[in-house]
Amino acid sequence: MSKTFLPLRELKPGMRIAETILNDYGSIVISEGTILDDHMIKKLVNLKYGEVRVIERDQNFVVSEISESFNASYNSSVNSFKSVLYDAAIGKNINMEKVDKVVTSVVARLNEKRDIVRCINQIKSADQYTYTHCVNVSLLCMLLGKWMGFSKDKLLMLVQAGLLHDIGKSKVPREILNKPSTLTPEEYEEIKKHTIYGYRILEKEHEVDQEVRIAVLMHHEKIDGSGYPTGAKGDKINMMARVIAVADIYDAMTSNRVYREKESPFEVFHIMEEESVGKLDVAVVNAFLNNIAAYYIGDFAKLNTGEICEIVYINPRHVSRPIIKVDDRYIDLMEERELKILEIL
Ligand SMILES: [Fe+2]
Repeated sequence: MSKTFLPLRELKPGMRIAETILNDYGSIVISEGTILDDHMIKKLVNLKYGEVRVIERDQNFVVSEISESFNASYNSSVNSFKSVLYDAAIGKNINMEKVDKVVTSVVARLNEKRDIVRCINQIKSADQYTYTHCVNVSLLCMLLGKWMGFSKDKLLMLVQAGLLHDIGKSKVPREILNKPSTLTPEEYEEIKKHTIYGYRILEKEHEVDQEVRIAVLMHHEKIDGSGYPTGAKGDKINMMARVIAVADIYDAMTSNRVYREKESPFEVFHIMEEESVGKLDVAVVNAFLNNIAAYYIGDFAKLNTGEICEIVYINPRHVSRPIIKVDDRYIDLMEERELKILEIL
């Protein structure tokens, strides 16, 4: 492996970036060690970089293969989790071997953060929602745990808890779970019980850590005590449950886009910043927003004025209102409130 400067036209997916690339605002566009994919190469071309220092890898190593392998393992995780849920629904013991296999394959993706972010943002089909949601939450938990500095053991537990968080839904009647119209108060009470059902299902599984069971029980608790099933507040809520809550809400929010107009990730960040106050753990939300938003530096986006902009800087305190560049002007969206990012290009 050698480090070389290459002009843009010679960049290929699979090459590893040897030096962090900054934009003229000083924000990181691509960090050292990142493996190039088509999206990043397009970004560099748009940004008109002259040449880039890369480490060349084995000739046949291309990123599209990583993405395909990511998709394949994602789909197989979703399928095997489908059968775990089925077992739980018919009262059989859950197949912990299958659960552990999915957990291992999720954790193996630790270094493919971009694939995860992209995969989770894809619009999901509504009928697959339950299974994909569980796998997505476990992937998001893995990212969050990593960003928050969880130890390897805790990370494995967190990923397992994320995967199993809604296992209790297998005990909630389908008619209620899939009801398209508003739930009656009784039906809502029944849905809420999935937390307790989940705890009970896992109680039968001796190899599951008690902390995982508690996390599953508490994943709908809210910081201000307005959650369920116990109404616990603040740090009385299990830490892993607070992480799952953020992953759960983010995935639910991006999945709902199936039914309404597609929203830009920045709109979703805005909703999280606004609506999470008092409900979600601020430290978890911040870890999430700051890390996930960094993937959009250097991306081009369309504004509500029709203009095209480049995202140049993301303020950690206002992730949803970045500094953008339109032609040669820098615009702080914190100040220009009427401007909105409609879509990432
Ligand atoms: Fe839930």
